Amino acid sequence: MWSNAKDKALRDRAAQVIPGGMYGHQSTVLMPEGFPQFFTDAKGTRITDADGNVYIDFMCAYGPNLLGYDQPDIRAAITRQQAQIDTGTGPSPLIVDLAETLVGMISHADWAMFCKNGSDATTMALMIARAHRGRRKVLVATGAYHGALPWSTPRPGGVVAEDRAHLIYFDYNDPQALTDAVAQAGDDLAGIFATPFRHDTFADQTLPDADYARTARRLADAHDALLVVDDVRAGFRMARDCTWQTVGVQPDLSAWGKVLGNGQPISALMGNDRAREAATQIFVTGSFWFSAVPMAAALETLRLVRDTPYLEQIGRIGLLFREGLAAQARDTGFALRQTGPAALPMILFEDDPDFRLGYAFCGAAMRRGVYMSPYHNMFINAAMTEADIAQTLEATGAAFEDIKRNRATLRPSPTVAALMGT
Ligand SMILES: Cc1ncc(COP(=O)(O)O)c(C=O)c1O
Repeated sequence: MWSNAKDKALRDRAAQVIPGGMYGHQSTVLMPEGFPQFFTDAKGTRITDADGNVYIDFMCAYGPNLLGYDQPDIRAAITRQQAQIDTGTGPSPLIVDLAETLVGMISHADWAMFCKNGSDATTMALMIARAHRGRRKVLVATGAYHGALPWSTPRPGGVVAEDRAHLIYFDYNDPQALTDAVAQAGDDLAGIFATPFRHDTFADQTLPDADYARTARRLADAHDALLVVDDVRAGFRMARDCTWQTVGVQPDLSAWGKVLGNGQPISALMGNDRAREAATQIFVTGSFWFSAVPMAAALETLRLVRDTPYLEQIGRIGLLFREGLAAQARDTGFALRQTGPAALPMILFEDDPDFRLGYAFCGAAMRRGVYMSPYHNMFINAAMTEADIAQTLEATGAAFEDIKRNRATLRPSPTVAALMGT
């Protein structure tokens, strides 16, 4: 029987010693009531919360779990490396192996630099774009998430207007809006940021229009600015290359994180020769950026990316999940909008402006052992099997019945209402 008594006790303790009880995307305040905050175990497709409840996890640590939690080959590589050197006075030779491997796999890349978080990589991209020709203006799509530093964090606390003084916003997938933003930058255009597809929260996901992607490339070339694809979230879930390869556009820089070490802390910025000189000019570093264990994990992750059909598997499993949910929604009389690539599924209910249906649905599935998000894209991992989807669909089938039965009594989440300003 599902219970969350230990989670509640931990939350009470956390509230005393951690501001707000938890912060950033690791806070579950945006999740439906009762979602666990703390986890004790992760293996394959499953996570276990502090109360011992086990979930099939469709959030995959918000992305990093690509091949299954604690994947045995990657664990072996980690154990081998731990016996040698991890964080030392200098990097291990693995940094060269890893850069060579990535340059061999990512078609636009001639070099790679390593860091810890996606935000490190996107910020390095911003700095390199500015260092390239000594210009300031950087174009980003409205609502796109590129990390949680003062230039990029989605919330206003602690941020001053000057932190974003040289950002210009445009609408994703709109070549005219992009063209206008470039005109606004004038002769001060440093770079154009793009997420591989539009993966904003609380919104339908939109795949990139080839015309928009080509316009971004053409404008960057015409103005000698750098084009950046932020592949931190979608990397290796749509291609074994930079994701904009799927629309035939090569960026100058691509930012990577999350999946790179299948959960080990490592991220990367990759670039072409055009951006190499600027990359040598910026000073960036971190005490843990050169640690060898995450690099060993990344090398093994990349081997599995190259040598196994993981990509086909996550696409197939994502479709099974999507089709199963669609059939259940139809059968219970709900209109479900499923958008984005199958390996990064997003579910939103039609006629659900305050998200109460989605929240109730995910809450009901969670209490039956399936961890999904009602407002953020989800992630499929390659350890998921048909049997996992069958078990998932049992839970979601019951969740649809639940919300159908209780529809009249559902209320919006107060946190979401506050966020939406309603
Ligand atoms: C597209 C994108 N860029 C950057 C980031 C920031 O990555 P990190 O949280 O590792 O700093 C994220 C994280 O979710 C992301 O989705």
